[in-house]
Amino acid sequence: MCHVVLALHNFQCCRVHFALDGGNFSCYRPFTVLGFLPDVHCQKPATTLMLPNAQGVFETHQSVHPVSAIMYKHDLVYLTEDASHDAAIEHINEEAFGPGRFTRAAARIREQGPHDLSLSFICTDNGETIASVRMTPVLAGTVKGHLLGPLAVRPSHKNQGIGRELVRIAVEAARRKGSEAVILVGDPPYYGPLGFQKVAYNALSFPGPVDPGRVLVVPIAEDAHERLKGIIAWHG
Ligand SMILES: CC(C)(COP(=O)(O)OP(=O)(O)OC[C@H]1O[C@@H](n2cnc3c(N)ncnc32)[C@H](O)[C@@H]1OP(=O)(O)O)[C@@H](O)C(=O)NCCC(=O)NCCS
Repeated sequence: MCHVVLALHNFQCCRVHFALDGGNFSCYRPFTVLGFLPDVHCQKPATTLMLPNAQGVFETHQSVHPVSAIMYKHDLVYLTEDASHDAAIEHINEEAFGPGRFTRAAARIREQGPHDLSLSFICTDNGETIASVRMTPVLAGTVKGHLLGPLAVRPSHKNQGIGRELVRIAVEAARRKGSEAVILVGDPPYYGPLGFQKVAYNALSFPGPVDPGRVLVVPIAEDAHERLKGIIAWHG
């Protein structure tokens, strides 16, 4: 595995080409704005990672050498959500989930109170909002945590790492804010690599039916798993 450290001056996106043991490959991945420099781990020449800045200073280790850095068409920026994003987020969620989205058990929790804007994020491309993740404060058993979702990326921008990046940002922001856990109902194959673990089968009681095998958590408090027992509900 090669290890590339980038020092960034702004958050524009670019595709960066590296030469690794004689073969070229590109890194292409969005990063954002939580105030730390990203460490990028490229595991194989085919790895595609998005890097935010063509004007970065590249420090490399081992046999990796940046050979060129070109601006990419996308100009992805991750921002904290505010009220001006409401209409675009509504459109993204309607497109992703359709009218049935309001009947889901997680949606019933979200109806109980507002989401936390400070932990909810959007991604824009050239100023257009193209993805969103929201976080809602909940009490789950005795755990004061956050319910992640909806998470949605516009079809035009899928499979570029944007969904994963929004989840990473939201979980990190929750951790920094002192949340005890990030909980969601979702697909384990997608969320498992992002640090989510299964909650004990049927341990949490939702205001509607859920598949217990899809109730997942990033336990931030050490004893979160033990205390995730009982009702999950909005908690101001
Ligand atoms: C699910 C979603 C948010 C993923 O966003 P994205 O930006 O396209 O995803 P990423 O680029 O971060 O990740 C893409 C990878 O995840 C995989 N993936 C996407 N959805 C998946 C799912 N439901 N289960 C397992 N893997 C999934 C893709 O196949 C791809 O795999 P690869 O990297 O091996 O090619 C997006 O597809 C979406 O908006 N879907 C509709 C709404 C939805 O289902 N939201 C999640 C509710 S739990």
